[in-house]
Amino acid sequence: MGKKYKWGILAPGKISAKFAVGLKLLENAELYAVGSRELGRARSFAEEFGFRKYYGSYEELAADPDVEVIYIASPHSHHKEHTLLCLRNNKHVICEKAFAMNTDEVEEMVDEARKRNLFLMEALWPPFQPFYKKAKEILNSGSLGNIIHLRGYFTFIAPYDPDERKFNLSLGASSLLDIGIYPVIDALTFFGVPEEIKAIAAFGKTGSEESICAVFSYPGGRLAEIYSSFRTDDDIGCDLLCEKGNMQVQRGRDMNQVVILKYHNSKPEEFNYHPDAMGYHWEAVEVMKCLDEGKTESPVVPLSFSLDLIRTLDRIRKEAGVVFPGRE
Ligand SMILES: NC(=O)c1ccc[n+]([C@@H]2O[C@H](COP(=O)([O-])OP(=O)(O)OC[C@H]3O[C@@H](n4cnc5c(N)ncnc54)[C@H](OP(=O)(O)O)[C@@H]3O)[C@@H](O)[C@H]2O)c1
Repeated sequence: MGKKYKWGILAPGKISAKFAVGLKLLENAELYAVGSRELGRARSFAEEFGFRKYYGSYEELAADPDVEVIYIASPHSHHKEHTLLCLRNNKHVICEKAFAMNTDEVEEMVDEARKRNLFLMEALWPPFQPFYKKAKEILNSGSLGNIIHLRGYFTFIAPYDPDERKFNLSLGASSLLDIGIYPVIDALTFFGVPEEIKAIAAFGKTGSEESICAVFSYPGGRLAEIYSSFRTDDDIGCDLLCEKGNMQVQRGRDMNQVVILKYHNSKPEEFNYHPDAMGYHWEAVEVMKCLDEGKTESPVVPLSFSLDLIRTLDRIRKEAGVVFPGRE
């Protein structure tokens, strides 16, 4: 076993609980400290998952000299502020998606990490998962021929609460940044950066974007459709329509994963995956592997990918008129 790393968790909300379950599986991760805006929440999270220390502010967590790497899971409206806080306290950082609200913010985070020679990665779940690796392996084998069309979708019905981060514009409310980011990741991974983007959004009572459709174009007349919404409930994933057949790359809400491969005129073949800890631990494995190897970014989710991603999200928002007051 390599070095054991002392982990901190900043913002102990729903996704942090899943990440902590993943960390507990890893021998080289020490569940060390939790920081919340409220001491009581930090204490109960620490007790539930076995963290040694807890703090009633993010500043105290970041200032703890023993914490080495921090997982940030505040709303995306606060990712830049919290990432800079941790980097300026000399911590390595893995920060949840969306990495920040816009390209300027992500560039500032990336510049700060590079200037300080610290590790920084966006916590993107799909690239580490077996279904994604299987899909890439099949595509790389050439058996399906070229991808002609991608259909990516992620929706769920979110109960309306104007103060909650899915509807509160000041917390970055947008189905695109919350869940539409996944079909965008699919398109960037399987196709690359689009030439042209068209998009239309639908807005709800708070003025936040609740549904969005985007179409990306690629050389050779190839297209990708992106759909996300807080108002419908359907499968999560993408369909790749290729020259010699089609492939569905999907996951359930429990993060179980399936790839359905169907060559034209033949029966479908199915590959199923049921990872421990919903597969969240692999992001932490990657962080510590990179730190062991002295790397400041991950070859699996390099900062250049996060920059392509946020630039694409900005382009979609611009087309669809999705704005966050005060921080275009
Ligand atoms: N990778 C994934 O699969 C995945 C899944 C879900 C969400 N996410 C991302 O993770 C982030 C958090 O999502 P979540 O679902 O865990 O949200 P959540 O349950 O609402 O937790 C967010 C936490 O952020 C802290 N926070 C700091 N400032 C806040 C503010 N002004 N308003 C509300 N909370 C604030 C709160 O903790 P304290 O007040 O205790 O400090 C809160 O518990 C989002 O960026 C989201 O996009 C990723």
